[in-house]
Amino acid sequence: MTELEALQSRHSVRKYQDRPLDAIAVDALQKEIAKLNKEGNLNMQLVLNERKAFKGFLSYGSFSNVSNYVMIVGKKSDSLEYRAGYYGEKFVLFAQSIGLNTCFVGLTYKKIDGAFEVGSDEKVVLCVAIGYGEADGYRSHKIKRPDQVSNLTPASPEWFKKGVEAALLAPTAINQQKFYFEYIPEDKVKPGKGTSLAGYTKIDLGIAMYNFEIGAGRENFQWIDSPL
Ligand SMILES: Cc1cc2nc3c(=O)[nH]c(=O)nc-3n(C[C@H](O)[C@H](O)[C@H](O)COP(=O)(O)O)c2cc1C
Repeated sequence: MTELEALQSRHSVRKYQDRPLDAIAVDALQKEIAKLNKEGNLNMQLVLNERKAFKGFLSYGSFSNVSNYVMIVGKKSDSLEYRAGYYGEKFVLFAQSIGLNTCFVGLTYKKIDGAFEVGSDEKVVLCVAIGYGEADGYRSHKIKRPDQVSNLTPASPEWFKKGVEAALLAPTAINQQKFYFEYIPEDKVKPGKGTSLAGYTKIDLGIAMYNFEIGAGRENFQWIDSPL
């Protein structure tokens, strides 16, 4: 499965089968996490067989059988949230490509003492539930029009159109899609974000930027004022 195929088939999954991740998958995930931590200067950690984090929530999103998750942790910095989204999405698409399902979780989980480490100069940004989904009859999220999230016109290059389309498939908190991509001729793109009472717009933009790169092809353009 290519990253584009993973991006197109990914949907948030909240209900999982009650079975542990197999050893080959765990090994592959650990290697990917080690690689992404280096690339993104993060401290993502895979937590296995831990059921307390997702017990007892009634609101937003109803999770069942979550016993594995990744905590996205990193050193405090202005770019941390953007990087958490960007590399978190890279991780999520890797997981999708090896047959696992995921859900980014900003709110509806508990931080369990001892399950992962947070240094004194670090903070927890986000959690990603991971496992074998219960069902695969997924629904697509409601998608904004390209002109609501970009300056796409019929005259824009094909790669820009494809980048915007891929960004619109990105997961965002409460599906808010408050990101914006501005095409600047000939081959530049300026990423931006709106405001939201719910927050999470920096993480969302990092996620959408990763999707944009896959759709557009990294060789076709350069970011201007990238927040990463
Ligand atoms: C930063 C972020 C935080 C999220 N937090 C939660 C959460 O706390 N609970 C939940 O059930 N889903 C959460 N989600 C999942 C979104 O609701 C979901 O991505 C969105 O509705 C789009 O659906 P899709 O991922 O299936 O495309 C979060 C997603 C992101 C990107």
